[in-house]
Amino acid sequence: MKQIRNLTLAMMMTTAFFSGAEVLPAPQTTGGMPLMEAMAARQSSRDISPASQVSKQDLSNMLWAAWGVTHDGKRTIATAMNRQELILYVLTATEVSRYNPEDNTLTVVNTGDFRRDCARQEWAATAPINIALVVDTTKQEKEVFQAYTVGAASHNIYLYCASAGLKTVVRAMMDNKALTEALKLAPNERVLMVQTVGK
Ligand SMILES: Cc1cc2nc3c(=O)[nH]c(=O)nc-3n(C[C@H](O)[C@H](O)[C@H](O)COP(=O)(O)O)c2cc1C
Repeated sequence: MKQIRNLTLAMMMTTAFFSGAEVLPAPQTTGGMPLMEAMAARQSSRDISPASQVSKQDLSNMLWAAWGVTHDGKRTIATAMNRQELILYVLTATEVSRYNPEDNTLTVVNTGDFRRDCARQEWAATAPINIALVVDTTKQEKEVFQAYTVGAASHNIYLYCASAGLKTVVRAMMDNKALTEALKLAPNERVLMVQTVGK
């Protein structure tokens, strides 16, 4: 069983290599701060240093917490009727990437610094990481269910950040039109929230 899993992983990494996607470190899905302590520590922090860095391991763990694959094709969060309509994008100082939960990779969709598009607040435009929470409206047309999905993913990012000593805040303040262009979203994809992360 373990050999089959390793073989599947190796095949996915080979596919990712040839597609040019960046393979993230495997998410650490055990250990960490006890859940009750993480909930008690959760908070929004805006004093994020532009010079701070988020490691690839933290990024991988955080993306998995928000939207990773767990068991039987399910995710770390519930989605209405299991529609799985969420798509996560990562904005850094140099590029915009789409998270592929199935093989834990990032695919660059745009190059350049587009953090200002998702930040009407100065400290967010200079934070090392902004995660755009996007929904595929053809998979889930009901707005209340889309909002639930984005809220659940955001909250898992909050909990991971609390447990890992990272600062974060979820934000509705963004330039929706500019960000939609920066992410190169299809007409059926809609950005609902952005979550800023750093130290
Ligand atoms: C739907 C939603 C939208 C928010 N939008 C912003 C925002 O645009 N900018 C910001 O600085 N904080 C934003 N926040 C963070 C809230 O201000 C914050 O959660 C609240 O003040 C409570 O603080 P706490 O998260 O530390 O408990 C938002 C929170 C939610 C749930």
